[in-house]
Amino acid sequence: MKIVIITGSSRGLGASAAIECARKGMGVIVTYNSSPDKAEGVVKEITQGGGKAVPLKLDVGDTGSFVAFRDAVAAQLQSVFGRRDFDYLVNNAGYGLFNTIATVTENQFDGLFNVHLKGPFFLTQTQLPLIADNGQIINITSATTRVATSGVAPYAAFKGGLEVLTRYMAKEFGERGIRANSIAPGAIRTELGGGLSDDFEAMLAGQTALGRVGEPEEIGGVVVSLLSNENRWINAQNIEVAGGYII
Ligand SMILES: NC(=O)c1ccc[n+]([C@@H]2O[C@H](COP(=O)([O-])OP(=O)(O)OC[C@H]3O[C@@H](n4cnc5c(N)ncnc54)[C@H](OP(=O)(O)O)[C@@H]3O)[C@@H](O)[C@H]2O)c1
Repeated sequence: MKIVIITGSSRGLGASAAIECARKGMGVIVTYNSSPDKAEGVVKEITQGGGKAVPLKLDVGDTGSFVAFRDAVAAQLQSVFGRRDFDYLVNNAGYGLFNTIATVTENQFDGLFNVHLKGPFFLTQTQLPLIADNGQIINITSATTRVATSGVAPYAAFKGGLEVLTRYMAKEFGERGIRANSIAPGAIRTELGGGLSDDFEAMLAGQTALGRVGEPEEIGGVVVSLLSNENRWINAQNIEVAGGYII
């Protein structure tokens, strides 16, 4: 059984990816930060469907907790999955914050940096000894790295950094057969940034060639697809999954 860790899989895109991965027979480590009940719900849905999943607490903004998290992962791998390593890491956890460059505070900037770039960097570094050869890392970036939309400058800049980091991961981990790709979603219906008001959704739908926002499973399905053997030659790519957002 292949095993995947998906950060921030208590809700939204991560939860959808966790459920889709389990449907394809993968074991899933579901991580949560502030929503343990929702993580339990995702694990329950997976186990009721005949899959295997465990929840673990992880604050991606707290690098000081990463060694303890690795120890917790190792313990779960051993006791639940009978393994010493896992196959795939999906760096998905994140949050939205709308503020213009003129008014964004240093605290807001640092918080976004810690969760969207520093966290994935050091989490991957810490987990690397546990990632099996021929595994894969998927980083969730954003279509805001390609087009500038007002109010998300630090977020988009750090997602852009994560996109670049993905290529370096592919370069440095390739000798172990470990691939690294990023997925850049467009507007998807989740609770990110407080969710979608009707007006906001209508505006985003109007900016999208297919005339609507995306649904979480439309990203979860791409995660599963990228992890599959059929796509084994895709490496070091940033794949926008956005229904044709601002083209
Ligand atoms: N939705 C979109 O339109 C969209 C578009 C482009 C990119 N993305 C990216 O997709 C990813 C998932 O977003 P989403 O739309 O699914 O958002 P969401 O519905 O708000 O879910 C966010 C998830 O991230 C977790 N999380 C937040 N801060 C965390 C932290 N400090 N440490 C660990 N986990 C944390 C949350 O866990 P808890 O609830 O347990 O705290 C939750 O599981 C993010 O990286 C986001 O930037 C989303």
